Amino acid sequence: MKRLTIRDVAERAGVSVGTISNALNRPDRVADETLARIREAIDDLGFVRNAAARQLRGVRSPAIGLVVLDIDNPFFTEVARGVEAAASEIDHLVILCNSAGDRSREDKQLRLLEEQRVAGVLITPAGRQASKLQQQIRERGTPVVLLDRRSPRRDRCSVAVDDVKGGRLAGQHLAELGHTRIGLINGPREINQCADRRAGFLAALEENSIKLTAPNDIEMDALTIAAGEAAAKRLLARKNPPTAIFCGNDLMALGAEHAVVTAGLHLPDDIAIVGYDDVPFAGMAFVPLTSIRQPAYELGYRAAELLLEEASGEPHHHEQVMFIPELVARQSSLGIGAAARGQA
Ligand code: RIB
Repeated sequence: MKRLTIRDVAERAGVSVGTISNALNRPDRVADETLARIREAIDDLGFVRNAAARQLRGVRSPAIGLVVLDIDNPFFTEVARGVEAAASEIDHLVILCNSAGDRSREDKQLRLLEEQRVAGVLITPAGRQASKLQQQIRERGTPVVLLDRRSPRRDRCSVAVDDVKGGRLAGQHLAELGHTRIGLINGPREINQCADRRAGFLAALEENSIKLTAPNDIEMDALTIAAGEAAAKRLLARKNPPTAIFCGNDLMALGAEHAVVTAGLHLPDDIAIVGYDDVPFAGMAFVPLTSIRQPAYELGYRAAELLLEEASGEPHHHEQVMFIPELVARQSSLGIGAAARGQA
């Protein structure tokens, strides 16, 4: 079947090819009556624009790339929901890539996105050199905004959450509940978010004269349910287990809850648990989970807004947006019937 071109539409509508191009790219330059005739011709012919041809002419694809660390984590699903909401407002698509924390996968995904000439890229980098990676992508000609990471440079955009404050909220909450023997189950410290959460958590414990002992300070190689459960079992097996655990994210916290419950223990009487992210189902967990809420949807929406502003070529003011997390206290630390939402 012969592929239709704008030449066929021009012939059917009785106008020039240039008028068709204007109708598709700058409809404000075409009279309403002519536009109506062109749209009728497009519908009659069933014409679809050739995106590849537009890209060959240097026009950027109406799409943004979103490279996340872990697509299994509902935090990133919420982020993607916000990104898509902002992108769809100006008829842009979102191409979702899951680096799974693997730098070589991430590099390959970035190369493919840049070859597709996407309008821009949002990325939560797998490694620590976020600013260097952002520079490299920009130098190759693609706008990029750091997601869930703070850019140290004021001439770059980034959108993040203050994870040091988030860790501090968790530590302060457990100290206020009277816990003095507290455990930490965290992800790899080379992930900035994990390092920052731990730093804030330790600062809050220190302010309350609470020491995190080495056997209670567990670093796992992944922020997953399985890793949280395995680490919690190690803590429960100790002669004097901690009476409370702060977990690096909600997936680990749900795994820790499972370890506590299957050991026949009770939350929070035997051990309190606090997670991080406040993913949509945290409140529906077997024991509703106390968590540090990150505004994931808002994070994604704002990052996409900044990227699309920068990609538009219009005058743009770079921003390093920093959202503030909040404590959402539920039964896994407060006990039955309790719930509170507070910000430090
Ligand atoms: O990807 C690891 C963690 O960092 C996620 O759970 C989320 O908290 C992100 O900020």
